[in-house]
Amino acid sequence: MRCPAPRFLAWFAFFAVALIYVSRGVKAQSPELAVTPPMGWNSWNHFKEKVTDADVRAAADAMVVSGMKDAGYVYVNIDDSWEGKRDAQGNIHPNSKFPDMKALGDYVHSKGLRLGIYSSPGPKTCGGYEGSFGHEQQDANTYASWGVDFLKYDLCSYMDIMKLHDAHQDPQKALAMMQAAYRKMHEALIATHRPIVFSLCQYGVDSVWEWGPQVGGNMWRTTDDISDNYRSMALIGFSQAGLEKFAGPGHWNDPDMLEIGNGGMTADQYRTQMSLWAILAAPLLAGNDLSKMDEMTKSILLNKEVIAVDQDKLGIQGSRIGPPQIWLKPLIGGAKAVALFNYVIDDEAEPLSLKFKDVGFTGQVHARDLWAHRDLGVLHDSYTVTVPQGGVVMLKIWK
Ligand code: GLA
Repeated sequence: MRCPAPRFLAWFAFFAVALIYVSRGVKAQSPELAVTPPMGWNSWNHFKEKVTDADVRAAADAMVVSGMKDAGYVYVNIDDSWEGKRDAQGNIHPNSKFPDMKALGDYVHSKGLRLGIYSSPGPKTCGGYEGSFGHEQQDANTYASWGVDFLKYDLCSYMDIMKLHDAHQDPQKALAMMQAAYRKMHEALIATHRPIVFSLCQYGVDSVWEWGPQVGGNMWRTTDDISDNYRSMALIGFSQAGLEKFAGPGHWNDPDMLEIGNGGMTADQYRTQMSLWAILAAPLLAGNDLSKMDEMTKSILLNKEVIAVDQDKLGIQGSRIGPPQIWLKPLIGGAKAVALFNYVIDDEAEPLSLKFKDVGFTGQVHARDLWAHRDLGVLHDSYTVTVPQGGVVMLKIWK
């Protein structure tokens, strides 16, 4: 005799689970997690190892109150120095700066934001805290139980493990070991069934952009650490030329976090970072103290017209079209973002000319200045403007 009830229950359960995933909009650890470059905040650039639970809550509060959340910033990411000891079962616990990670996750989520955390495939993180080596699945499960939505996974002492296996003398072996380490955590994250953005941090070695997606990376650092000075930012940002073909929806080149608001650069130089990162379709992770932002910092981080360039649905990383530093990013609907940088900071600022034919337009075009928030009207052939030293003029151009 047929018994419809169990089958009905099975279907009901299937649809209930499916609905949960559909309502979250994404599958666990998939490219859909990062259809556009992830946006949020990370504790490292400003707080370094001093970051506390209170600082993270204050960042979440400020992200909402300042309007950053409405502008698209959603990840609240704790970097290195949260880690405490493992218990007898090997479970990782936060240290005394983070009394209750689940409660912190709940708080961040209650604001409509997402929680990010940090670890290493090695036994120790770069700051010398407990890493995930040998505890990958256990740590992934713990993160999921805390409500973690983003993991930055930083190579650090895994390089010592590679040396132990003599991989430093064998580049092929080094690459295979590194890929295996990242894949292992990727699979552990998948097994949690929780959507968690996977951010690879190994400073761009071994052309990570060529294999990052294969090991589950939604983004990967392309360079060494950024510092809050123009030289560091400009070296990193302008050196991204050529990597554009490796980025796209679900997988992004990451030239490191923003320094905007940390005090080491001028407003023009910070506008350069925001513009260049937007042209590069880079993740936008603010790295300043969000609870103490001046109006200038807010005007840069919250420039919705520049953010729209970064978050453009086509997901094309822009490229340098040359001399001296003119960069172009195609946008959905046929428009183009063009940034004119005056990257030399010890010369007098001189007028720069953009010929529209160099960015693919003939005849007349419409243009808008995305920092002045001003329509430039209908223009013919070219546009000439004096760009401040270390600064930028960013335009949106369309027919
Ligand atoms: C490395 C990373 C930084 C930061 C520190 C933390 O240097 O590149 O972004 O996470 O470790 O120790």
